[in-house]
Amino acid sequence: MLSVDFCGLKLKNPVIVASATPSITADAIKRAAENGAGAVVTKSVMFPDENGRPTGANPRPKFQLYNTPNGYDPALTEKGGMFSFFRIEEPYPTPEKMAEMLKELKGPNGVDIPIIVSICGFTGNYESWRRLARMMEDAGADALELNGHMWNPYSKYTDPVIASVVKSEVKIPVIFKMMGVTEDPTEVAPKIVAAGADAITGLGTFGLDGIELDVDAEKPWFSETTGLGGPWLRPVSLAFVSRIANSTNVPISGVTGIQCAEDAIKYILMGATTVQVCGAIYARGYKVLREIAEGIEAWMKKKGYNSIEDFRGKALPYLTGTSPQDQPTRAFVTDRCTGCKMCLDSCMFDALHLKDGKAFVDERCDGCGVCWSLCKFRAIEMRDYK
Ligand SMILES: Cc1cc2nc3c(=O)[nH]c(=O)nc-3n(C[C@H](O)[C@H](O)[C@H](O)COP(=O)(O)O)c2cc1C
Repeated sequence: MLSVDFCGLKLKNPVIVASATPSITADAIKRAAENGAGAVVTKSVMFPDENGRPTGANPRPKFQLYNTPNGYDPALTEKGGMFSFFRIEEPYPTPEKMAEMLKELKGPNGVDIPIIVSICGFTGNYESWRRLARMMEDAGADALELNGHMWNPYSKYTDPVIASVVKSEVKIPVIFKMMGVTEDPTEVAPKIVAAGADAITGLGTFGLDGIELDVDAEKPWFSETTGLGGPWLRPVSLAFVSRIANSTNVPISGVTGIQCAEDAIKYILMGATTVQVCGAIYARGYKVLREIAEGIEAWMKKKGYNSIEDFRGKALPYLTGTSPQDQPTRAFVTDRCTGCKMCLDSCMFDALHLKDGKAFVDERCDGCGVCWSLCKFRAIEMRDYK
């Protein structure tokens, strides 16, 4: 029921571990597989520095979960409220290290899920991308994900040429991870596809800066950040994915802010075939992978769907790009109202009152929709009044 064909890769379910620390060693990847991952994208592989040391460093701490004014409350994560910022500077696996990992992962004590190796060449140095691609295909990668980083000051724009360089070198599927939050995906994604990419991952956000502060300590959590994640960015990524879906016809892997099955379903409704999870693994452990897959399955059964394709992209037609003008709409209170009064204070037009223990809307209602969106009992409906 959950199985998908993602650019030729056969996945038992669409939930993929995103490229980061949870996929940085063979043991980490085994844990992901044991916990139900459909596939894994490895931590990005890079060439070592000029001294032969793995690129990257060891800033600590490197990951900050954040959802309250001064830090993190796990109870809110259960409800979907978490965001994260992180330093990606960790020793990147070298091609030799990744080749060793692949040998183990493809061996008798390995895993039976596709391993997508993320590669990260140097900006403007196509030969480095070509060589990494060749080495990783030879080492047994099932596919490659190109880390299309927007990592100031090195790279300010997505470079689709990387896709054509890598495609001309290897036979395995090539997925391009788009990170250009400031770019228009309807312009860039078709160029990436024209360059030969078999699939696109979006929206990766590393290279996007952000600051959050600990007010008690009176200082930022980190002196700098090089990546952001979490549900607060999901709407941005969902819009990005919808534009890739509407401007290309390659499979898409949705990433950023996926914490639960519903988040994953949203990406699929926007056209994604697979989804990638990172921050939620930090916050809740690898078990979140199986929870997400099982949650998608339960939702599909409830809805009567037999395959991911049955509902993939189903919400896209609602994105018309225009909203109705001069709509004669007003709030109406239904029987579900409990009289909790929560909506009363929110009305900027003073149109809501309590009458016989229930909310009552008078003719001053502007139709703005605030009470409708606030009511946790879904007791308010927006309807035409003419
Ligand atoms: C510590 C850390 C390291 C990361 N390293 C990489 C990387 O090497 N390559 C890559 O493409 N993305 C990397 N990412 C980005 C994630 O793959 C993902 O795009 C991002 O975390 C957003 O997803 P989330 O909201 O589920 O966390 C990293 C993320 C974190 C937290």
